[in-house]
Amino acid sequence: TGASSDPSSSAAGGTDYGLITAGTLTVCSDIPYKPFEYEESTGSGQYTGFDVDLLTAIAKKLDLKTQFQVTNFDTLQSGTALLAGQCDMGASAMTITDDRKKNIDFSDPYYDSLQSLLVKTSSGIKSINDLSGKNVGVQQGTTGENYAKEHAKGANLVQFSDDGVLWPALQGGQIDAILQDYPVNLQHEKDDSSYKVVEQYKTDEAYGFAFGKGKNETLRKAINEQLKALKDNGEYKTIYDKYFSA
Ligand code: ARG
Repeated sequence: TGASSDPSSSAAGGTDYGLITAGTLTVCSDIPYKPFEYEESTGSGQYTGFDVDLLTAIAKKLDLKTQFQVTNFDTLQSGTALLAGQCDMGASAMTITDDRKKNIDFSDPYYDSLQSLLVKTSSGIKSINDLSGKNVGVQQGTTGENYAKEHAKGANLVQFSDDGVLWPALQGGQIDAILQDYPVNLQHEKDDSSYKVVEQYKTDEAYGFAFGKGKNETLRKAINEQLKALKDNGEYKTIYDKYFSA
């Protein structure tokens, strides 16, 4: 009952981990970020994607449901939303970084990622060296934004708080390129063959689930345990293949 139950009781079903709503993991996530978190169909309010399926499978092992709450990514990655107790945790294709660790405790890594550049094939842009004077779209607060700041010399960075706006901006010609996580840019290339990922940047990023620093160590450990269990029993691979098999 409520947030006061004994956090040391360990059996699934017997622990509520101090959750905002007992029996439910309230999860902050910046949606859409396909294929990691997105709406099944527009307006359905039903979320799906690699993060959603993986965390829901983990939660199930802990006898918990998941409730995804759309949250601005910058607010999430800074730790603000989590430290304020807006959610029990975050799942948002979030790269584990030293900077973020100041305010966030991460789960074990669950996905390896890298950066990339998406352009309209007919634009003639072939690499990050062709971006001088071009408008390059990035999502605010992301590792893609940082990468662009450091490497896209002479480009005009256009920051969007909502990643979902980047793709229509590229299609509409307001921006000439998107610099962001490779799997998300690849998704756009798959959806529309007149766009192409022209470069990948091996940034060695790993995604982790996020918890407000020091706020819920019991839950973080339980999630790490179940993540490992899903890797061991093949369920992780099934979910992975659903979204990333060639
Ligand atoms: N992996 C990148 C980062 O951590 C981008 C994540 C953006 N996630 C999202 N749901 N919009 O900075």
